[in-house]
Amino acid sequence: MVRKERAEELKREAVHLPSWDLSFRQIWDLELLANGAFAPLDGYLGEADYGGVCGNMRLADGSIWPMPITLDVTEEAAGSLRSGSRVALRHPEGMVLAVLTVSDVWTPDKEAEAKSVLGTTDDGHPGVFELMQGNPVYVGGAIEGVELPPHHTFRHLRHTPAELKAEFERLGWQKVVAFQTRNPMHRAHVELARRAAAQIEGNLLIHPVVGMTNPGDVDYFTRVRCYEAVLKHTPAHSAMVSLLPLAMRMGGPREAVWHALIRKNYGCTHFIVGRDHAGPRNPKTGEGFYGPYDAQELLKKHTEEIDIEMVPFEEMVYVEDRGEYMPASQVPEGARVLNISGTELRRRLRDGSDVPEWFTYPEVVKELRLRFPDRSRQGFTIFFTGLSGSGKSTIANVLMAKLMEIGTRPVTLLDGDIVRKNLSSELGFSKEHRDLNIRRIGFVASEITKNRGVAICAPIAPYQSVRREVRQLIDSVGAFVEVYVAAPIEVCEARDRKGLYAKARAGLIKGFTGIDDPYEEPENAEIVLDTASLSVEESAAQILLYLENEGFIAPEAEQD
Ligand code: PPS
Repeated sequence: MVRKERAEELKREAVHLPSWDLSFRQIWDLELLANGAFAPLDGYLGEADYGGVCGNMRLADGSIWPMPITLDVTEEAAGSLRSGSRVALRHPEGMVLAVLTVSDVWTPDKEAEAKSVLGTTDDGHPGVFELMQGNPVYVGGAIEGVELPPHHTFRHLRHTPAELKAEFERLGWQKVVAFQTRNPMHRAHVELARRAAAQIEGNLLIHPVVGMTNPGDVDYFTRVRCYEAVLKHTPAHSAMVSLLPLAMRMGGPREAVWHALIRKNYGCTHFIVGRDHAGPRNPKTGEGFYGPYDAQELLKKHTEEIDIEMVPFEEMVYVEDRGEYMPASQVPEGARVLNISGTELRRRLRDGSDVPEWFTYPEVVKELRLRFPDRSRQGFTIFFTGLSGSGKSTIANVLMAKLMEIGTRPVTLLDGDIVRKNLSSELGFSKEHRDLNIRRIGFVASEITKNRGVAICAPIAPYQSVRREVRQLIDSVGAFVEVYVAAPIEVCEARDRKGLYAKARAGLIKGFTGIDDPYEEPENAEIVLDTASLSVEESAAQILLYLENEGFIAPEAEQD
């Protein structure tokens, strides 16, 4: 960050500079670059540093840095940039957050980056997916921070590295162990963190990530209320919570090294690394991408250089006979061990069934129940996808009528035609336009779902990747039910209600889905309807049955 007078100067200069509007992920990176959490970086990596970081976790000057911090921009934006160009980096609301002096502009090999940094190119890995979704050109260079991104939530829990260090000093905390988390904390986590603090004879910093985490994680508003609640269950004056606006890459071992460097910059002396630190699961296989203790092993090699001590921890489990938590390897033989997985917890919340006291605190359960009411009170999106003429709209209309008849939630239909008329009238059928169309539908549907209504969407949505984006967006606020209307192309073409297939065959319409533009079949749709053999009524009934079985609508006898 620059001084006030320089900031004013930069704001005046920015009026005449090209601007780049930062995405949310980029804002999080920028904040930690500007506030010193990413020291020794003074800006976005240039090409030589990038090569070193990807290849052997080192900047060109030899210092350790495991994660590429790069500014990805469109080819259009990069076109006019050269070494020495200056760019105003703006918040989506328009404020200038920083001015970048460009050192390098290059097109990276993102596959190679994914392989070396994240260890995989499988886009089931959220970090790989995010990387590939990003813009194609990287711009490196030092930044001058004008203004930190504004935060309007939980301001009493936000600190820059300098502020947190000053706070530790004020409190007389000399040894501080940081606990990284992106999940609500239950008794096992608190027990683990308390033991770590006791082991080092120091204090505990609960340092949760409130930037970007793994898709599907509990939103940070709910989590922070949980952290504040669990703080009351730690010895008085021994622990504090501070929020870290980091965009995680879920990079397992490298991520652990990165997290340790960041915590060092925030003034921590110790860092807890548990089982499978920052390791995502592959949604396609259910398997983890990294070995459970790979992160501990990699960080162990670098702690001396980073000048932070790792406190490794294995999984804590509840030993019923003793009524206490213990590291899994210390459990006496034959003792009965209890555990509730994340999936099981979600099931209990969804069904409104009991969450036992040994597992978590009543205050945490209360917050989670507020956030995840049982399914009969949650919003949901029914997202139809399928070829033109497959029957999406007809089934969607019947389904809407049935849900209106049940009447427990407001229902909105976002049919392909309605959307193209009202939301996307300027769009055509290029891949870019179709993706934008689906993103718009996803955005509206997520708002409806968040507010506990029902959104029924019925676009063709031919591309897998944007469907996944929409699924992730909606999953975080309610339920996403993908319905693949799987009528074969021959059937759709034979029906040809609008005569569009004939036109496409005659070459009068170009890029028609199923004819000369692809339709990527969904791999994990909740419902697949074969409309060649099912009637419209039967198809709608199948969806209603699914909703009933999953608890979204009550069986008829129980509807008020
Ligand atoms: S997309 O791909 O999801 O954005 O498409 P969508 O918004 O659902 O619009 C599809 C309707 O537009 C008509 N149409 C075309 N469809 C596919 N490809 C091309 N090139 C095309 N041009 C026009 C077509 O009538 C679709 O309507 P439905 O209701 O699906 O038959």
